[in-house]
Formats: sequence, C-alpha cells, structure tokens
Amino acid sequence: MYKPHKDSMPMPASSPAASLRACASAPESEPATAPAIAVRQVLKTFAGKHEVKALEAVDLTVAPHEFVSILGPSGCGKSTLLRIVAGLTPYQGGEVQVNQRPVKGPSPEIGVVFQSSNMLPWLTVADNMALGAKLRGLDMQVLHPKLEQLTETLGLKGFEKHHPHQLSGGMRQRAAIGQILALDPQILLMDEPFGALDALTRDRLNVELLRIWQTLRQTVLLVTHSIAEAVFLSDRVIVMSGRPGRVVQEIQIDLPRPRQPEEIKSDPRYGEYIAELSALMGVFNDRH
Ligand SMILES: Nc1ncnc2c1ncn2[C@@H]1O[C@H](COP(=O)(O)OP(=O)(O)OP(=O)(O)O)[C@@H](O)[C@H]1O
Ligand SMILES: [Mg+2]
Repeated sequence: MYKPHKDSMPMPASSPAASLRACASAPESEPATAPAIAVRQVLKTFAGKHEVKALEAVDLTVAPHEFVSILGPSGCGKSTLLRIVAGLTPYQGGEVQVNQRPVKGPSPEIGVVFQSSNMLPWLTVADNMALGAKLRGLDMQVLHPKLEQLTETLGLKGFEKHHPHQLSGGMRQRAAIGQILALDPQILLMDEPFGALDALTRDRLNVELLRIWQTLRQTVLLVTHSIAEAVFLSDRVIVMSGRPGRVVQEIQIDLPRPRQPEEIKSDPRYGEYIAELSALMGVFNDRH
C-alpha cells in the first residue's frame, strides 16, 4: 500500500503550512482512484567495479491525468527513476505498476521524451514525427491527419520538410515531443525536455505543453531542474533527496487552471511555492 513519506526531511521554517497538506497529512487509506503510476519501495543499485546506490525505497504515485514534476539534486536518480517507470531499466527491490499492471518492459501506453531528442538526422521533421507510429504499424489514414494537427499545434507548420539540423533547439524539442505524441501515449514521461533551451523559449514551450496537456490530458511525470517550471506546470511537485534518491517531500500546487504565465506569476501563492521549494532544494544541495 502507498504510504506517505514518514522519513521526510524537516521543513524550512519559511514553509507555508497550506501546501504541506499532501505530505504531512496524507491519508493512510488507498486513494479513491487507482493510480496510473505506482512506485513502491523501489531500490536501484548500479553494480560493477564502482557500485552506485542510485535509489533507496522510492515511493510515489501519480493519479490518472495528473501532472507531476520531480525536482532533486543532480545525480540523485531522477532519470534512473523515469527509466524504471518506462520499463527501460531493471531494478532490484520494490514494485512499479502502470495502470495497475507490473512494468516488465517498454509499453505502448507510455511515451518517453528525453533531454536530447531522438530524431534521426537524415529524416525530415514529418518523417521523424511519423517514424515511431509507422514502426508500430499505425494506419497512415488515421496517422496523417493526426500528424498535420500535431504539426500545427506544435508550431512546426512550414518546417515539415526540414531536417533536424535546420531547426532551432526549441523546434527540435517540439518535434521530438510530436514524435511521442503521435503515438497517443496515455502516460508521458519527460526527462528535462527543455533543459538545453534558453529561458524565453522554455517559457513559451511550457505554455504550449500546458495547452496540449489541457486538451489531451495525459498522465505526466516530468523531471526538471527548474523550480519555476515545476510550479507553473504541475498539480504536484515531488522533491527527492541527494543520492541514494528518496522522495522526501510532496507539495500540492493549488493554482487555478487553465494557467497563463502572467496570471500565475502574479498570484502570491506562486511566489510562496517557489520560495518553499527553493529552500528545500537548498537544504539538499548544501548537503550534497
Ligand atoms: N547506466 C549506469 N551505470 C552506472 N551508473 C549509473 C548509470 N546510470 C546512472 N548511474 C548513476 O546513478 C546515479 C543517478 O543517476 P541519474 O542519471 O539517474 O541522476 P539524475 O538525478 O537524473 O541526475 P541529473 O539531474 O544530473 O540528470 C548517478 O550516480 C549515476 O552515476
Ligand atoms: Mg537526469
């Protein structure tokens, strides 16, 4: 059964009490809706000459259609955790379930967007976006209008015949997201998808990502280093400790949706969440 994190780090004094609800008083009973993602007591050690204990008893759940972000110091196991949920990395202890079934390998219901795009340099944007869907044997009659719509939504119209090197960094990331969205995944795992982009492009893509999510409502688990990005996008932010990574805090983000940057940034709670998460991250970075 999912348990709240009893071994959480002490909170900084400045922490607004309201947002601690999710962690401090999480009910002991099962949530009303079965989680889309459930990670329970997961352990991961990379064996070898230089053994690394990456994850220690990680617990987290993500509800269907929820947008959850993970923050944590570099090297604490965030990418490892995402790869485990995606069925790409084996783990030693605990259990991972997606849609209440144990994860035994990659599955079509899960789409993964990595920091560096998966696009093939010799294919055009359109062919790259269609590639995964074609490999899965999806019907071109269905796929074609969907790809047209995605190209429009992602602001890539007119660039279908371009090759990846002819795109800006932001466009490449949008195309990489399109590649995954073309597969209609119910669950979207994203590992710092906008990490390499400048702040302005990143802000714009965050707004686009929210717009797409508000329409398609996938379940999203996003790894990011940006506290502002996590607060702006998420229903809930999960904070991990330094390695071996554990979940040490969960903060419910009670900001209204749909979210527009100007409105959200002028909401006093936005600043409070950022201050609270910055203080928490400071604790872990100082100890790291
Ligand atoms: N394939 C691997 N073999 C051995 N060790 C690994 C492997 N992948 C990751 N590790 C180790 O596991 C730990 C966690 O790595 P991971 O990439 O998950 O961290 P992260 O939280 O995503 O860091 P960052 O924020 O820098 O991306 C690190 O110490 C890393 O060296
Ligand atoms: Mg990583």
